[in-house]
Amino acid sequence: MIPNNQIFAAPMAGISDRPFRMMVRSFAPNVPIVTEMISCHSLTARHTNCLRNFDNYADEGNVGAQIFGAVPKLMADAAKILQDAGASWIDINMGCPVPKVATRAGAGAFLMRDHKLAGKIIGAVVRAVQIPVSIKTRLGWDDEHRDWADLVHIAADNGARFAVLHGRTRAAGYTGAAVHPEITDMPIPIIANGDLKTADDVNEMIKRGYSGAMIGRAMLGQPWIFGVIAGTAEAPKNIGAVAMKHLDLMIEYYGEKCAIPMFRKHLAWYSAGIPNSAEFRTKINQITDADAIKQEILQFWGCVANI
Ligand SMILES: Cc1cc2nc3c(=O)[nH]c(=O)nc-3n(C[C@H](O)[C@H](O)[C@H](O)COP(=O)(O)O)c2cc1C
Repeated sequence: MIPNNQIFAAPMAGISDRPFRMMVRSFAPNVPIVTEMISCHSLTARHTNCLRNFDNYADEGNVGAQIFGAVPKLMADAAKILQDAGASWIDINMGCPVPKVATRAGAGAFLMRDHKLAGKIIGAVVRAVQIPVSIKTRLGWDDEHRDWADLVHIAADNGARFAVLHGRTRAAGYTGAAVHPEITDMPIPIIANGDLKTADDVNEMIKRGYSGAMIGRAMLGQPWIFGVIAGTAEAPKNIGAVAMKHLDLMIEYYGEKCAIPMFRKHLAWYSAGIPNSAEFRTKINQITDADAIKQEILQFWGCVANI
């Protein structure tokens, strides 16, 4: 059996918000969960249009707050705010390939091209907080620059406690199969990430020298997957009840007007592969009202008991 504190829930922008993290947590009490990426600019300026700038993690268990940015002082200040908000550790995004982050802001994956700046950011964040700091990165910028091991050494030298390695380059984006190099002789533990879905996948990563595994897309519509992989929980029989609970948490957090459109993608994932799901998705895409969407959930999955 794989200890569930070795299986991480990945940071996913637009997905790993507080309601989703609470859903994951309800099935897997010990799983380390990373927040969606938080801009150090938005966080330190206390921008009120971004709810996650004000999250409190004290009741969330083992949560790593992920920050992105390119200015060491702002990254350090952001890390302090998140530590005060109860984060268990700080994760620094060094893999996001989105142009807004990686090219225009010089953050995320761009730090794979500027190891000196990466080191400065890691050092500044490590000095600013008392909680552990990790980095999440990729194999390299492109196939000609697969220098993840150098970045891991820089991270370790600057006090990072572990690193997550997504087995693709920045150039690959999310295409092609992830590649997971054997881990030997690394100064800090490495967590494998990319295309991992099952206990067998995770066990294979442990055999290759990784200290754990991080699951991203496989958790969409399946927030219970961590318990299933760890062998501590089964997939729920009544997915409608799970969806209903998730919807209530979204409404509580975002308010009804924002929550309903945001929740449609989750309903699409929850309903994927079930007969008549295409028709269900068409219907819910036109609904803006919480009671009406709950009626559709009740009808699609049948009677929903509390989970
Ligand atoms: C929609 C989406 C949003 C993501 N957001 C983030 C993010 O905020 N921070 C981050 O480090 N990685 C982010 N990622 C990358 C994932 O954390 C993960 O590295 C990637 O999806 C590969 O793992 P998987 O095959 O298990 O999904 C995102 C990926 C997707 C598809």
